[in-house]
Amino acid sequence: METKKLCVIGDPVEHSLSPVIHNAILKETGLPYVYGRVRVRGGETAGFLRRAAAEGYAGFNATMPHKIDLVELVDELDADAQLYQAVNTVVLRDGKMRGCNTDGRGFLQMLLEAGISPEDKTVTVLGAGGAARAVVLKLAQAGARRIFVCNRTRSKAEALAKEFPMQIAPCGFEEQTLQDCALFSDFLVNTTPMGMSGVMARFERLNFLEALPKGAAVCDIIYSPPETMLLARARALGHPTLNGLGMLIYQAIFALEEFTDSKIDAQKVLPAVKTALDEAMKV
Ligand code: ATR
Repeated sequence: METKKLCVIGDPVEHSLSPVIHNAILKETGLPYVYGRVRVRGGETAGFLRRAAAEGYAGFNATMPHKIDLVELVDELDADAQLYQAVNTVVLRDGKMRGCNTDGRGFLQMLLEAGISPEDKTVTVLGAGGAARAVVLKLAQAGARRIFVCNRTRSKAEALAKEFPMQIAPCGFEEQTLQDCALFSDFLVNTTPMGMSGVMARFERLNFLEALPKGAAVCDIIYSPPETMLLARARALGHPTLNGLGMLIYQAIFALEEFTDSKIDAQKVLPAVKTALDEAMKV
């Protein structure tokens, strides 16, 4: 069978873990694809899209700075890409370019896997940027009763709340606000880059964690480092914690299902993916 090409495009793209994850799954499943990485600068999205099929690509993932530009460039969008107005997966099939977004589904699957169901829950989400959009809107779709979106720039939280006004409550990022939201939350999710390797910004204070009810989980969608200061403090306070590795892996599995039009047994591929990621993150 002919081996088809897949890749991740972005700028920067050198540190993307997508090739590691996808190739581990491809090896494990025997699906006839290879997955690479291609540096495509901002403004060159349309050019890459035009060439991709002719160059033998069956599809590609997109990271910064292409996710938003692709919305206008593809022929059709799946429901999540339409809702988030961002595309992380493009499938090239039968001469058509289909834009999908698997970030929200990946996030939800990670939560469910950890035994956290958003249904009827109250959740505090820190941040209202691109990553928060997939997280917050998926939580709303999954039936969260109340989602406090706490953001430094309040207007961005307000814009997000317009999508599901009955469920999403826009809030500020002041210490007292964070404490007030935490007090009523069943779990809390950080979507800001604060605490991420290579990012200078850090939480000034983490006192709001003390307001969380006992047993409330704390999730950080950051996976490098594996335990941010937020998670370390939450763990020290006795809360269950979850980093973003599961979201990263599941969004990739869902993307690969779209590319290959097949069902992938996550439980079967997870050990190989985790081993490959451990190796890649060691160096
Ligand atoms: P991403 O696509 O990773 O979500 P983004 O769209 O730039 O990146 O969003 C970053 C989020 O982290 C935003 O919600 C941002 O707050 P603003 O909307 O006010 O910019 C938040 N963020 C980043 N640095 C922050 C800091 N030092 N304090 C508080 N919030 C911060």
